[in-house]
Amino acid sequence: MAKVITIINQKGGVGKTTTAQAIGVWIQVKKNKKVLFLDLDQQGNLTYALEAGNSDYNTLEVLETGKIRADKAQLTTSGFSVIPSTPSLANVDAVLTQTGKEYRLKEALAGLTDYDFVVMDTPPSLNIITINALTASDYAVIPAQADIFSLQGITQLGQTIETVKRYTNKDLKVLGIVLTKHNTRSILSRDLQKVITDTAMHLHTNVYTQYIREAVAIREAQAMKKDIFSYNSKSNATQDYDALMKQIWKDINQ
Ligand SMILES: Nc1ncnc2c1ncn2[C@@H]1O[C@H](COP(=O)(O)OP(=O)(O)OP(=O)(O)O)[C@@H](O)[C@H]1O
Ligand SMILES: [Mg+2]
Repeated sequence: MAKVITIINQKGGVGKTTTAQAIGVWIQVKKNKKVLFLDLDQQGNLTYALEAGNSDYNTLEVLETGKIRADKAQLTTSGFSVIPSTPSLANVDAVLTQTGKEYRLKEALAGLTDYDFVVMDTPPSLNIITINALTASDYAVIPAQADIFSLQGITQLGQTIETVKRYTNKDLKVLGIVLTKHNTRSILSRDLQKVITDTAMHLHTNVYTQYIREAVAIREAQAMKKDIFSYNSKSNATQDYDALMKQIWKDINQ
């Protein structure tokens, strides 16, 4: 059975999509595992960055039907398998109304044997889509920026995760918080460091010691629809993601 990893934080622009792509690409390229990407964000940023396109077959259909057609996933020219998003995901509340609506993704992924890992990018919100993602997942990774407004929102995320663990997925493991877009010139104040560790404790998880530095290569790679490992293996952020993934791999490959 495929192991499922969700990248989540309801705060916008904290590096979810970038991290989801880096995690999935690293697992497939460096560990030679089969990865299926699911783009659950109506913005379609992961779909774009992976060079996939809009398609009639998309993650809304997966949510609607509670079934997945692995053979209908797009195979990109770089060799990544993607089920793209659709702007219609905005209407998901009208589609998912019945009892058990939290379990549609879990049901869909339950029989998935063609892949070793599923990596899911989620929208900047806490709604039925993110609940579905957390309910279907073995692991969650939380990208966050080390600023006070970003971190304040994590308390609410923590409550959602607790609810999911209590009602729909008791085995969910939050691997950790990843500090992204980190500016090495800015000094983390003691107050902020405390907020970060308190937040992690609240979520019964850790902050990965490996943070991701800010690097122009990230934006360039996305604009050119390249993954950062093949676009620029020497950039700060690429090396940081590589080192982070070595830590994450230990946690998920047991
Ligand atoms: N380490 C980094 N260095 C520089 N820019 C970065 C880095 N990580 C992400 N970015 C840029 O920051 C922006 C937001 O990143 P990203 O799209 O991954 O965040 P997100 O959390 O998925 O956003 P949203 O909530 O809108 O889905 C993007 O333009 C991305 O290129
Ligand atoms: Mg995103």
